[in-house]
Amino acid sequence: MCGIVGYCGPKRVVPVVLEGLRRLEYRGYDSAGIVYVKDGKLVKHRSEGKLARLEAIIGDAIIEPSHTGLGHTRWATHGAPTTENAHPHSDCTGNLVVIHNGIIENYHSLREELKAKGHVFSSETDTEVLAHLIEDYLEDDLVSAIKNAVSRIEGSYAIGVLWTGMPDTLVAVRNQSPLVLGVSEEDGNFLASDIPALLPFTKEVIFLDDMELAILTAEEAKVFSLSTGEELKKTVTTIDWNAAMAEKAGFKHFMLKEIFEQPQAITNTVSGRINLETGEVSLPEVGLDEEEVQKIDRIFLVACGTSWHAALVAKYWIEKFTGIPVDVDIASEFRYRHLIINERVLTISISQSGETADTLAGIRIAKKLGSKIITICNVVGSTMTREAHGTVYTHAGPEIGVASTKAFISQLSALFLLTLFIAQQKKMISLAESNERGKELIDIAGIIERELPRIQKEVQSLIEGFYDCRDFLFVGRGVNFPIALEGALKLKEISYIHAEGYASGELKHGPIALIDKDMPVLALVPQDHVYQKSISNVEEIKARLGRIILIGTEGDEHLKNITDDVIYLPKVSEMMNPILYTIPAQILAYEIANRRGCDVDQPRNLAKSVTVE
Ligand code: M6R
Repeated sequence: MCGIVGYCGPKRVVPVVLEGLRRLEYRGYDSAGIVYVKDGKLVKHRSEGKLARLEAIIGDAIIEPSHTGLGHTRWATHGAPTTENAHPHSDCTGNLVVIHNGIIENYHSLREELKAKGHVFSSETDTEVLAHLIEDYLEDDLVSAIKNAVSRIEGSYAIGVLWTGMPDTLVAVRNQSPLVLGVSEEDGNFLASDIPALLPFTKEVIFLDDMELAILTAEEAKVFSLSTGEELKKTVTTIDWNAAMAEKAGFKHFMLKEIFEQPQAITNTVSGRINLETGEVSLPEVGLDEEEVQKIDRIFLVACGTSWHAALVAKYWIEKFTGIPVDVDIASEFRYRHLIINERVLTISISQSGETADTLAGIRIAKKLGSKIITICNVVGSTMTREAHGTVYTHAGPEIGVASTKAFISQLSALFLLTLFIAQQKKMISLAESNERGKELIDIAGIIERELPRIQKEVQSLIEGFYDCRDFLFVGRGVNFPIALEGALKLKEISYIHAEGYASGELKHGPIALIDKDMPVLALVPQDHVYQKSISNVEEIKARLGRIILIGTEGDEHLKNITDDVIYLPKVSEMMNPILYTIPAQILAYEIANRRGCDVDQPRNLAKSVTVE
């Protein structure tokens, strides 16, 4: 969380930094700030609230002929989201500033120590400690002072430092929080928490690893090991995303655009990975051969939030097609429980960003215990992809809306392919069946593309009766149960309506007590092998006067006897239902939030990438 941007180069720094921050605002939007060098001095602008407020304050300073600077968009951890707590934070002299993403765990004792030495603090943040600590060590060598300061710090950090003593240079350090450099011979060098900030300027990037320090000037970007001090030869990676992919393209919100991009996300994720003549799935990037697959006797799926819901769906698929037992864990629980893991266990992490702190910690533990680690990830070069033994990239493109949509659908697509791959290696599925299943996955992209406009229209006309409710239940059975959870998460995170997802069969074990004429319930009732059971559960809700929305199979006239609010979806293979049934749930959440006037892409209190515990 928090977005950091830095620039040294021939362009005017303020517009470059603001453009970068705009593309990182999904990481945090409690406050924002910028600093640049003018006539040898540091000029700082900060504001609580979103970037737009900072831009209003900056006004004409946008044209300052300055070429070195830093910017920050904050997701508050220590200290309220006020202007005083906004980054950059200065030392006592105002000649040195720091921007930071992460948490300095021992900031309290450091702050007391520094105060005793006479340092004066002006914010409640953990970050400000860093500025004073560097100041404390600084004589005339900034890099040594930074090294000394970070050696005192416990916690996670990606930091950028600017000092008037070296006005054309930025210094950055990374430990457990993402940091990427953008390099361009023509346009200079950049620093950012994530790739979208760099896309308007360069596609050539260098990913920093933990305990690395970078020195940036307009001419060069050098990376050093913090422990040995030696200069490192880092690989320059070319990113195949472009700047337009991170724009709204005429849609009102990124979330809506990303919902409509889902057919393409499925196609991109599947394409080239399954041979539609032989049915063979090829995933060389996971680095698992037949012998290794044969040895796997248990699979752990580890993830957070929406990615955890993708894992829950995958459990149904993997157990059905491969016969391997699967455990699904929320990463923040996984990392602190007693794990029975050895080299026969395969651990699969699922993460859009590849930077989620708990998921990363989880795979590190599993790796230490001897497990092979595969990650399903959307961001090329992210920390998780670098630490896993193998990565199946989802090719969803940049996802900017805080609510995960196309990332989820492409995670499901990648997990389904991985399931087929493992089943093939284990000889648990014939190539003919695999081919059929692969085609079903490919076809689902076309079905969603065709149905999306109709689903949106139908949802728009039904939400009038539901958009101002206080609570909402989502229910589903079997492989669609996780979609009920996902539907509820989407609705609550962007509309602030209290929503819960339940397995339909669980209702009568408690939640049914909530049902009355004011309780809306969205039920997923495809004609699958548990259809009759699902319908019985819906009848139980109806008998208690619950207000029902049904999502079911085209041609199922019985649903109209239960409620007027039915959205029909084409009949597809049972195992593909979770992908298809996600679509109306996402649109319902979007349309309700939009109708309520909520900030759909940047819901309160959230950040897209949760890089702290
Ligand atoms: O980047 P990750 O997939 O690891 O992120 C995990 C969750 O933070 C994320 O899915 C979150 O739940 C979404 N905002 C939900 O829409």
